[in-house]
Amino acid sequence: MILEALNLSVILNGKKILKNITVSFRGPGVYYILGPNGSGKSTLLKALANLIEFKGSILLNGQDIRKIRRSDLARKIGYVWQNPLYGFFEASVEREIAFILKNLNIPREKMSEIVKFFEIEDFLRRSPFTLSGGEAKRVSIASVIVADQPIILLDEPEAEMDLRGLDCLIEYIKRNKHKKLIIVASHNTIFAYKLRKVLRKIIIINDGRIVRVGNAELLTDRDLLREVGVMPLDWWEE
Ligand SMILES: Nc1ncnc2c1ncn2[C@@H]1O[C@H](COP(=O)(O)OP(=O)(O)OP(=O)(O)O)[C@@H](O)[C@H]1O
Ligand SMILES: [Mg+2]
Repeated sequence: MILEALNLSVILNGKKILKNITVSFRGPGVYYILGPNGSGKSTLLKALANLIEFKGSILLNGQDIRKIRRSDLARKIGYVWQNPLYGFFEASVEREIAFILKNLNIPREKMSEIVKFFEIEDFLRRSPFTLSGGEAKRVSIASVIVADQPIILLDEPEAEMDLRGLDCLIEYIKRNKHKKLIIVASHNTIFAYKLRKVLRKIIIINDGRIVRVGNAELLTDRDLLREVGVMPLDWWEE
């Protein structure tokens, strides 16, 4: 599984948001895109899932993703929105999670496992729009990864999660690190640190450009992190 961007640029509303990015993600493995607010993390994930227009190319196992049928791409790449409310449209949590299975002709049995894993049994009959922030986050992740795609793009998955939610999420990432290509995007250096042992690479982006690619040791470079605009790990102790 190789997902790569070659000379990727994205222009939104006349403004260049991603500026000639070339990067490759080789699965199975876990990658972390780290950068400050507005640096282009979500835009990069959306481009990788072919959800927005872009210049340059994005290749999935060497094939241009623009030439892959939507339904085939949906079977291969799962994209979880940063804001869960952007992804919700069904009347109940149960239907929200079942939607992708129905759409992609996947047996419904998959659902109970994920529902149990993310501990969402109690609100299956509720409207997803009535959920608390952390509950919504868990449901939005479950409603995508239930389709068991080989590539999973997680946009700030840790946001709003409490300890229990974080433990579920981290367990999911650990269990799948040898099976899937997982790309996490966040400004959160503490979450990156928590994942340090499973991360293949950290990709630091700022102002639409990749400024550094390296291993978890990048998290100890406090000057670099500060310069880019994300919290150095010892920030809380200052
Ligand atoms: N449709 C749009 N029109 C104009 N500007 C946009 C549009 N979508 C995104 N942007 C801008 O592009 C930049 C990058 O946005 P993006 O959502 O990728 O940032 P991010 O790194 O994910 O930030 P955050 O950490 O806040 O989630 C931001 O300045 C944002 O305001
Ligand atoms: Mg974002």
